[in-house]
Amino acid sequence: MKVLVIGSGGREHAICYAFSKSPRVANIYCANGNAGIASIAELVAIKPDEIGRLADFAESKGIDLTFVGGETSLALGVVDEFEGRGLKIIGASKAAARLEASKAFAKDFMKRQGIPTAEYAVAASPAEAIEILEGGRFGEVTSPVVVKADGLAAGKGVVVASDRLEAIAAINELESLVGAEAASTIVLEECLFGREVSLILFADGESFALMPPTRDHKRIGEGDTGPNTGGMGTFTDDSLLSSQQTAEIIDTVIRPTLKGCSDEGFRFRGILFLGLMMTEAGPKVLEYNVRFGDPETQAILFRLDSDLVDICEAMLEGRLGETEIKWRAGSSACVILAAENYPAKPRIGDVIKGLDQAAAHSDVVIFHAGTNLDENGSFVTSGGRVLGVTAVGDDLESALEKAYASASEISWPGMQFRRDIGKPAGN
Ligand SMILES: Nc1ncnc2c1ncn2[C@@H]1O[C@H](COP(=O)(O)OP(=O)(O)O)[C@@H](O)[C@H]1O
Ligand SMILES: [Mg+2]
Repeated sequence: MKVLVIGSGGREHAICYAFSKSPRVANIYCANGNAGIASIAELVAIKPDEIGRLADFAESKGIDLTFVGGETSLALGVVDEFEGRGLKIIGASKAAARLEASKAFAKDFMKRQGIPTAEYAVAASPAEAIEILEGGRFGEVTSPVVVKADGLAAGKGVVVASDRLEAIAAINELESLVGAEAASTIVLEECLFGREVSLILFADGESFALMPPTRDHKRIGEGDTGPNTGGMGTFTDDSLLSSQQTAEIIDTVIRPTLKGCSDEGFRFRGILFLGLMMTEAGPKVLEYNVRFGDPETQAILFRLDSDLVDICEAMLEGRLGETEIKWRAGSSACVILAAENYPAKPRIGDVIKGLDQAAAHSDVVIFHAGTNLDENGSFVTSGGRVLGVTAVGDDLESALEKAYASASEISWPGMQFRRDIGKPAGN
């Protein structure tokens, strides 16, 4: 069969990789992909926001199955467009994508459905947000407050402010950080404390299947210092959640979320990502994403032992509940190698050395996030996050060891990466 993957990062490389393992897949196309993805898929020069062109391509090529990587296409309604034309596609509908595309919508949804989450207030303007803060709605002015832009902000729309002054500064700066549209509505949240865990699941509208739990490392610097990034690394490890905690998340979050979506008229079929804080009072939802995380996907899909095509078909046919999904036992880790000066203004165009040696390590796969080929056919950096060195191991320690041993073969001028992925201090 012919498969189309929409997107161009490390996440999409990992999705293409999973499809490349399927004996059922003859051709993989990726729109618009990157130089690393080109080794396993045919690149298609259509951007994720050109949903009409994507559907035209799928029709003319006779694509049997499309998989959407990122939120941009979903929020624009790519799934509705494809389904309207009778094309098979995996992803959340436009209505369901509001769970990610509007944080205010997601908070109101959780409140309506009784899903545990931080206390919050929604403001229709920066002035109103400041008014709410001044009104003492969040208790002591010294207590931390979380300020969030409502709309899609590529990870730049959230500030955990330690006091009222910082919160006000954050409110005033939000628009310049994420643009007027994403910041036109502001969500203020109670600050939760605990360990953060991400849990991603396949959902077919009613039933669901969990993937291994993950944790990511958002800050650029070791020990969680410096500015936020798209993610500097991640790992999967079953010990992140006890079976009791998992059962509690299923009961208090997952079932009510899927039922709530159906009750409100938008069945959730696709990939659902739960950003969770494991608080003393139990798990609480920090956010929903309606797609795979990046780089979580790299670490997760490298452990997938089942055929992704079979899982997709089960999702499309509402058979997920009866489908067994196999994961490689143990752990996995993904270490991101980033360009100099990322996340501000990354330097690009540097030749990457040592890729072949690094890829020759066993239990390792290197996913490309931002690479290009130069005129000599060498891989060069073309974005902030460049590569995701991903390894599996019988336990977390061995997965990390393999990932770092492989990463140590790779270099280019100014390459940066965190050495503390998977360490308890990192979060
Ligand atoms: N209510 C909260 N309490 C404490 N920390 C929070 C809260 N909401 C968000 N955060 C922190 O901010 C990060 C980003 O927030 P999130 O809602 O996931 O937005 P996004 O991923 O869209 O930037 C979270 O991973 C978490 O570390
Ligand atoms: Mg998040």
